[in-house]
Amino acid sequence: MSHVYIAHSTLDLDDLLKLHEVMRAASIPAKFSPDDENHRSRNNADIDNAFAMIVLVSATSVRSKAVRQDVERAKALGLPLIPYQIDKARLNGFFKQEVQPHLRLSSTMPDGLDQLVAETLAAYKRKCPVIAVMNLKGGVGKTTISAQVFGAWHAMAGGRILLIDLDPQYNLTQTFYEMDTADESASVDRSVISLFERSRLHARDAQSPAENWLELSTEPFAPVARDNLIHDIMADGNSSPGRFDIISGQFEISKYAFATDNDALERIKRHFLRQVDFYRSEYDLIVFDTNPNATFLTRCALEAADRVVAPMHTDIYSLRGVKLLNEVIRTQIPVGKRPALSVLFNAVGRSEQSTFEADARNGEFDKVAGFPLSRALLKSALPRSKHLAVKAPQSGQPAWKQLAIHSGRGGGLKQIRESLKTIALELKALSDETH
Ligand SMILES: Nc1ncnc2c1ncn2[C@@H]1O[C@H](COP(=O)(O)OP(=O)(O)OP(=O)(O)O)[C@@H](O)[C@H]1O
Ligand SMILES: [Mg+2]
Repeated sequence: MSHVYIAHSTLDLDDLLKLHEVMRAASIPAKFSPDDENHRSRNNADIDNAFAMIVLVSATSVRSKAVRQDVERAKALGLPLIPYQIDKARLNGFFKQEVQPHLRLSSTMPDGLDQLVAETLAAYKRKCPVIAVMNLKGGVGKTTISAQVFGAWHAMAGGRILLIDLDPQYNLTQTFYEMDTADESASVDRSVISLFERSRLHARDAQSPAENWLELSTEPFAPVARDNLIHDIMADGNSSPGRFDIISGQFEISKYAFATDNDALERIKRHFLRQVDFYRSEYDLIVFDTNPNATFLTRCALEAADRVVAPMHTDIYSLRGVKLLNEVIRTQIPVGKRPALSVLFNAVGRSEQSTFEADARNGEFDKVAGFPLSRALLKSALPRSKHLAVKAPQSGQPAWKQLAIHSGRGGGLKQIRESLKTIALELKALSDETH
């Protein structure tokens, strides 16, 4: 669980509580120190797990030994510092050196508090980016890439990765689990539907949102503990450190495509965005596999995502899908909230198709695409390979065995693993650089 840590002096309690409330309203988990030397060891664990530190700068906090120690620890860990000045404190040497260079916000600024929330939220998102794998064209490899490229990311970089199956076809879930297991999970609402509506996972007496397609529940609900919702494809302690989890999909999320109550849908979308933000605190990366047609689910995915990865084949139909996707992003998502778009060539063969790839890289299709496609293309591409063909999970076999990076035999596997790793590395570098 990660949170923002608020360093403060005991005398600034009113400001601290106000700030804590503001963070809660913005769905940003926050912790603060009791400012007591005896609790120092507990504070240290809280600082170690934080994604950023807000420092309340005041006449008393500049003199507090505890605050000084907090800041020193943040510095040693490389935590982003977000100082917020709440009175006319005179900075001492330590604060001048360590805090002042980051100090831009104060309570005297008319929108100081809003900016503080925005900066903290940005740090929260940097800690765990959200990537949507999407193309408004079917069968281009979205599901394959969601599983295999991010499986390779996990194998290389470790960390905690969460896959969310946002496609009503729920092929990603079926990549890892047999149909019966997936459906059993859905039958108790242990699935993606519990990110949208209050379900039996949130309250035993609740009606299942999957039961009635015509009813939308807009009742607010608190997120459930991660372990009650996810399935672990690869738990901590296996060959890679970290975890590789999935929130399984189910067909009934199609109901939102049929719903006509726009107010209810808007609220359900907000529930979804809040839930995703909540689970960011427990992961380093969240990945959505998405449906190929533009629906309410597409909008939800685009609003939550920091980056879209669009797989495309070397053909004009895929190109058209990417063109439409770019249009949907531009027309539906306001500037400033738009996810970055990266395009990944998939199932590239050696023959004449590579001409298409070369042309795309040379900018030949930028005009048809309606945006600089050549600049959005990832340098690496995923070749066509029999090792990436769909294979049903075997009964009794662990789910991670479905990942090409960890399992399988046969010629060409080494090359495909190299490709998966190269793509994962390129995406990771892009993600790190954006932030
Ligand atoms: N690089 C590849 N090499 C060989 N086969 C591939 C490759 N990428 C995808 N496939 C195969 O192509 C088919 C479609 O892939 P996938 O299901 O990942 O596409 P999708 O975009 O998720 O489809 P949908 O739009 O239906 O969700 C699958 O049978 C998959 O195994
Ligand atoms: Mg798919």
